[in-house]
Amino acid sequence: MLVLGIESSCDETGVAIYDTSKGLLAHTLYTQIELHAKYGGVVPELASRDHIRKLSPLVLETLAEANIKQTDLDGIAYTAGPGLIGALLVGASVARSMAFALDIPAIGVHHMEGHLLAPMLEEQQPEFPFICLLVSGGHSMIIRVDGIGEYKLLGDTLDDAAGEAFDKTAKLLDLGYPGGPKVSNLALQGNADRYKFPRPMVDRPGLDMSFSGLKTYTLNTWQKAKQDNDATEQTKADICRAFELAVADTLAIKCKRALEQEGLNRLVVSGGVSANREIRSKLDQLMAKRRGEVFYPRLEFCTDNGAMIAYAGAQRLLAGQSTGLNFAATPRWSLEELDSITT
Ligand code: KG4
Ligand code: ZN
Repeated sequence: MLVLGIESSCDETGVAIYDTSKGLLAHTLYTQIELHAKYGGVVPELASRDHIRKLSPLVLETLAEANIKQTDLDGIAYTAGPGLIGALLVGASVARSMAFALDIPAIGVHHMEGHLLAPMLEEQQPEFPFICLLVSGGHSMIIRVDGIGEYKLLGDTLDDAAGEAFDKTAKLLDLGYPGGPKVSNLALQGNADRYKFPRPMVDRPGLDMSFSGLKTYTLNTWQKAKQDNDATEQTKADICRAFELAVADTLAIKCKRALEQEGLNRLVVSGGVSANREIRSKLDQLMAKRRGEVFYPRLEFCTDNGAMIAYAGAQRLLAGQSTGLNFAATPRWSLEELDSITT
């Protein structure tokens, strides 16, 4: 089955073609980062307009790259939510109209399910069940996964998502947008012994997370450095290092707790923040110590992309699921509401 995948929930336009017998045939991505950088974050209306400009040319480019014709397609998957409503509607309308014209089924995919299943695009695929740490710009979740569509939310963030905390930290240190890679790159030059930031909520039982206090701690540390005439690039780097270590440690502690609670030893880490070097290293150490397994998407599939949507949609289309002609985007949508593909 040949499936075209379209992602347009935020600031990346992603298109891919997934073949259920041969795997990923082609994928293209257009990022709007430059467009939004001068505003310090995503401007929803500009995002929608840019998706309109870029999506159709990208679809044609991806078909050409895969060396297939539109009429070869068996189905179309698009991100139906969660995300920015205008941006989602661009992908949904293009996908739905193409499917109608070609008389093939279309399926609206949950963006976070796309992230969660992204490691399945790699050669080594995790078996079910597993614990998934899903960390992106809008979400930080710990989920027990028993199959596609069988998701039990074990822990969530009470305030900022992990990626949001990276983005806000970068903003207050004037590092630009998006913050994750900026903070992480500067942290490489930081001294890990200079500051010790708190590990939020690790003393409390449970798997919920909270990152807004860490952001305030960062702000206070930076302001104090300014008062002490020590607001140097080195201080910024030291703060980035302390911040990143605190996030990585907190996530590792929560993952360990989730694995113990559920009696599992297989961990999947996905979403934009799973690209982070320090977080990967901490989780690798944790799983090596436990003699368990850990899976990540390749770096380019950690952040938003069309391949993960094509993959998730293809599994649902294969199981006979599809979305009706009357397309709708769902800006707020819980993963736990999804149907299993086996029922
Ligand atoms: O999954 P994603 O592309 O979009 C959402 O669904 O939200 O995640 C984007 C988030 C941003 O907050 C970005 O700062 C963060 O992922 N991110 C990182 C890294 N690369 C991207 N955070 C930490 N370290 C990174 N290397
Ligand atoms: Zn995402």
